[in-house]
This record gives sequence, C-alpha cells and structure tokens, in this order.
Amino acid sequence: MLWIPVDRTAEKPLIRQVYDQIRQQILHGELHAGDRLPSTRELAEDIHVSRNVILEAYDQLLAEGYIESRRGSGTYVAEGASFAFAEADIPQPAAASFASSAQKNSDIINFRSGLPALDHFPRKLWSHLTQQIYQQADASLFGYDSPEGRLELRQALSRYLLRTRGVRCSLDQLLITTGAAQAFSLLTNLLLTPDSRVIVEDPITNEVQTIYTRSGATLVPVPVDMHGIQTDLLPADERAAFAVVTPSHQYPLGSILPIQRRIALINFARATDCYLVEDDYDSEFRYSGPPVSSLQGLDPERVIYIGTFSKILSPALRIGYMILPSSLITSSRQTKRLSDLHSPTLDQLVLARFIEEGHLERHIMKMKRLYHKRRDTLISSLNHTFGKLVQIEGESTGLHLVAAFPGINFTDTAIMQALEQTGVQVYPVEIHAVHTGYHSHQIVLGYGNLTEEEIIEGVKRIAHALQAEV
Ligand SMILES: Cc1ncc(COP(=O)(O)O)c(C=O)c1O
Repeated sequence: MLWIPVDRTAEKPLIRQVYDQIRQQILHGELHAGDRLPSTRELAEDIHVSRNVILEAYDQLLAEGYIESRRGSGTYVAEGASFAFAEADIPQPAAASFASSAQKNSDIINFRSGLPALDHFPRKLWSHLTQQIYQQADASLFGYDSPEGRLELRQALSRYLLRTRGVRCSLDQLLITTGAAQAFSLLTNLLLTPDSRVIVEDPITNEVQTIYTRSGATLVPVPVDMHGIQTDLLPADERAAFAVVTPSHQYPLGSILPIQRRIALINFARATDCYLVEDDYDSEFRYSGPPVSSLQGLDPERVIYIGTFSKILSPALRIGYMILPSSLITSSRQTKRLSDLHSPTLDQLVLARFIEEGHLERHIMKMKRLYHKRRDTLISSLNHTFGKLVQIEGESTGLHLVAAFPGINFTDTAIMQALEQTGVQVYPVEIHAVHTGYHSHQIVLGYGNLTEEEIIEGVKRIAHALQAEV
C-alpha cells in the first residue's frame, strides 16, 4: 500500500494531492522503477476517495511518463523517472546517539561495551519457536493487549528470576518494557516533575544522564570508587525522586557494591523517602565467585528493579522489564499504555516459551564460557603488551572492563584520532562522567562482540596508536 495522506479541508484538489505525492515518491526514489502501484480500486478504498480521483491522478502520471501500464498486469513505475536531488533537499535522519552495531565499519575493531556476541544469537531455535507461536496463536493475539505484558512471559520471568537471582515478585509487579531504555523513560513520566532531582552514580551511562536532564530534572552526582557508589557521600538533606544505581556491576567502572553500602543505600532511601532504581543490565555473566544478589530483595517497596534481554540475548529484541513496588503498579501501567500501549505480543510469547523450555539458561551458560575466554584473552593481551603501564579495573563480570593508563589523557583528540586511524575504537570513561576531569586515563573496553583474534589485533592497534605516549 502507498502512504498518501489527503487533506479534504485543503484548497488543493484531491486529484492534485494524490498526483503530487506519487510523483514526489518516484522522483525521490522512494518508489523504484518496476515497482507495482496498487490498482485504482485498491488505492481509492485505502485512502477513502472516489475511484475517479485515482484514475485521473494515474492518467496524469501516465501522460507525463512517471508510470506505465502493462496490459493485463497493472500499473508500474517507469524506468528513468527518479532524480538525484541535492543532499540539502532531502531531510536527513538525526545522527544516532549510539554507534549502531548494524552499521559497524568492518575494518575497525570496535570495543563498544554492552553488545553481546551478535553472531551467537540462537537463530534456529528462535525461528522455530517463532513459527510455532505464529501458527498456534489465537486470532485475538493479533489485536491490542494490556500494558503490563503477556502473563505467559511474566510467569516465565518470575520463575527464572527466583531461580537465578533470588528475586521474589508477584506477577502484578512485573511490567514488560521495550528494553531498559524505555523503563528509564517511563520513570520520568511516573515520578519526575521539571524541578525534580535525581541522584546518579558518577560516572554513569550518558544515555541515562540525557533522559533525566531532558525532562528538566537536576542530576545530583555521587562519586564512585573501586567498591561502587560512595554511600557516605549521599546528600542526607536531599529530597530526590529516586537514585539510579548499578549495584551488581557498576557502569562503567565495573565494581560490585558490598552489602554494607547496599544497606546504607536502603537506609538513605527510607530516611529521605526516595526510590532506588536498580539497573541490573548484565549480572548474569559473573565469571568467578557466587552470583550477586539483587538490591531489590532487601526492600521490594523501595527498589524499582530494571532488567533487560539486550545483553543475554540481543538488543534487537527490545525486551526488558521492571519490577515495581506495589505503590507504583497502577500508575506504571497507565504510563506504559500512554507511551506505546504495550510491547509486541508475539515476541513476548516466543521469549516466554524460550525461557520455559530451559533454552535461556542453557544459552547463558554457553555464552558465559565464551565471554569468560574473551575477557581472559583481553586481559592477557593487555598485560602482555603494556605490562605495568596498564591497570585492569572492574570485577570479573559482564561484557566490558576498564583499562587505566596512568599518564595518558583519552580526552585528547589527537590520541583519539590516532586510535581511529590505526583502526580501533575505544571509549573514554570521561564521556560518562558528570563531574569531568577524574577519569581521563581510563577507557571502557567491551569484548562481548569481538572474537579472540579481533581482541588480540585490537590491543596491538591500541599499542601502535599509543606508542608515542607510553
Ligand atoms: C548500563 C546500561 N543499562 C541499560 C542499558 C539499556 O539496555 P536496553 O537495550 O535494554 O535498553 C544499557 C545499554 O547499553 C546500559 O549500558
């Protein structure tokens, strides 16, 4: 079908509106030579105009050579009717804030953090389950659904979270979201007013900073040391709406918050009457020591827990979830409904079956072995290449680590350009800092989506680019 909005209140006749829009789509190359146009009857029905309007618009396009009719087969876009407009005439999409993994330059070794091994997505199994779900689904599942998400997924998820993370929640507390990113955004509508204050770890992912500052809130940064957020520096007189924390694996510095600081956080939240937002983005991948328990388990009525399938499966799925205190269940569903009604139903059902049949846990075990090897390769490669000139920071968890090179300033554009020119991309911790100037010697190195060979080559390239500095 063609997207041809017509305006009945406009002075411009309907024939001209239809003609102009098809002509524009052909000229701009949105409709290609050989594309079949809908029949006049189909298009008239689709955009609710009389068939004569379409007949006349098509006649005009035919007469001017934009389209051609083939006897017995229909109407087609003619050859040679598209036109290369000057760049400035064509609206360009805004630059993406994340470097998209789909558009990665294959020559560059990109140590981007937060990406799982994209070529290990369980495609066969996923497509098999997708086929099953689509074939078996009742027709009603192709309609609108409720904002909290499918019961099947919430049931599978609550059992999985109890088994693997010791998280206890009722099905009502679970809300399925479009990734953790949507969960962060929903919180702005749910809890923030333009004069609100949000406590954040410093450094913290710059996307989270942007989401809250855009809503008008003021960030209150609390510095992070090698054990996570420094709870003795929490502002006792602050009336913040919530504090965003990453206790299982601080992003980006990589620490695990010890129990004493967890208790201090909960006590702080109770004393100042604020919520704690626990971003638990990659705790499934812990390579040594016992699993880290959640903050949510300590006080389910104070903590809003955010989880995601972006790291354990794929960010392209865009499925995440929140576990909400009972006081926020109703309002969060309403906020989700106003945002996008609900997350895609059939994808949720595929994921529910994937979890229920035990595939998720098997996949995580398999990927853990792979990431562990990649992490070890990165660490030994850095140590072998730089010796005492590098310090590896962050716990043995997740999909990234921090490499510190005392004396090197990664905010220096000449250094970043040298790295880029040798074909390697690394990410300064400083880009995540609220108060800048403390992390200029540290870089985040993500290893989830790089093979061991790429990691070794990437470290060689880093050494090559930094040879004048170290
Ligand atoms: C720390 C952290 N939390 C949350 C997210 C967002 O994940 P999602 O893909 O679920 O929106 C990211 C994305 O990279 C992240 O780095």
